[in-house]
Amino acid sequence: MAAKLGILGSGEGSNMAAIDDSCRSGVLAAEVALVLSDVEDSGILKLAKERNISHAYIAPGQYRTKLDDSAESEFIRQLQAAAVDWVVLAGFMRIIKSNSLRAFPERIVNIHPSLLPSFPGLGAAAQAIEFGAKVTGATVHVVDQGIDTGAIIAQEAVRIEEGDTAQRLHERIKATEHRLYPQALNDLISGRIKICGRTTQRQAWKRTPKS
Ligand code: GAR
Repeated sequence: MAAKLGILGSGEGSNMAAIDDSCRSGVLAAEVALVLSDVEDSGILKLAKERNISHAYIAPGQYRTKLDDSAESEFIRQLQAAAVDWVVLAGFMRIIKSNSLRAFPERIVNIHPSLLPSFPGLGAAAQAIEFGAKVTGATVHVVDQGIDTGAIIAQEAVRIEEGDTAQRLHERIKATEHRLYPQALNDLISGRIKICGRTTQRQAWKRTPKS
C-alpha cells in the first residue's frame, strides 16, 4: 500500500509539487494525503487546491518562530485523522515542538537549502554567500529537537557562482531539491535507508534466492 504523506509548508510549494509529481508518476510509492500551512495565502495551499489534494490553513497563534500549543494540537489532529505515515516539511518555517516529535517519532523529515551542519536556520543561501563559501547545497534530514540538526538522509552540492545573489542561488538549490527530496523519501519509505540514531544507513541489497 502506498505510504501516506502529510506535507507542511509556508511558502511557494515547489517541493510539494515535485513530491506530488513523483507520486503521480509512480516514481515514489506514496500519495500526498494532506497539505497543511500556517500561511493562509501561501502558494503551497493554492497548488494543493489546483491538484485536488486535501489541504487546510491552521492559524499558528501568537509566536513568530513556533506554533502555539493549540495550533500544534490541531496540526497533529489533522495529520492523525488523515492517517499519514510520514510528515514531510517542505519550506515550513516554524520550529517543530516536542508534542509533534512524540506523535510522529522519527517520522518527520525536512529539507534545508544548505549542506548541513553549515548554515542552519533562516536565509541559508544568503548566509552561504555572506560567508564566502564556494559550495553549498541541499540536505534532507530527520527532524529532532534542534534546528536543522537531525540525522542526514541525503545531501547534494550546488556551486556558488561569482556575483550570485541569494535569490539566484536559492533558485538553483531548489532545482536540486526537487530531485533530491523525492529520491530521499523513496529511500526512506522503501526501507533502503534506515535511521540509526544520529545517522542513517543504506541497507545492503539482497539477491532473492532462485527456487
Ligand atoms: C526550500 O528551499 C526549502 O529548502 C526551504 O524553503 C524553501 C521552500 O520552497 N526551507 C527552509 O529554509 C527551512 N529552514 P518551496 O515552498 O518552493 O518548496
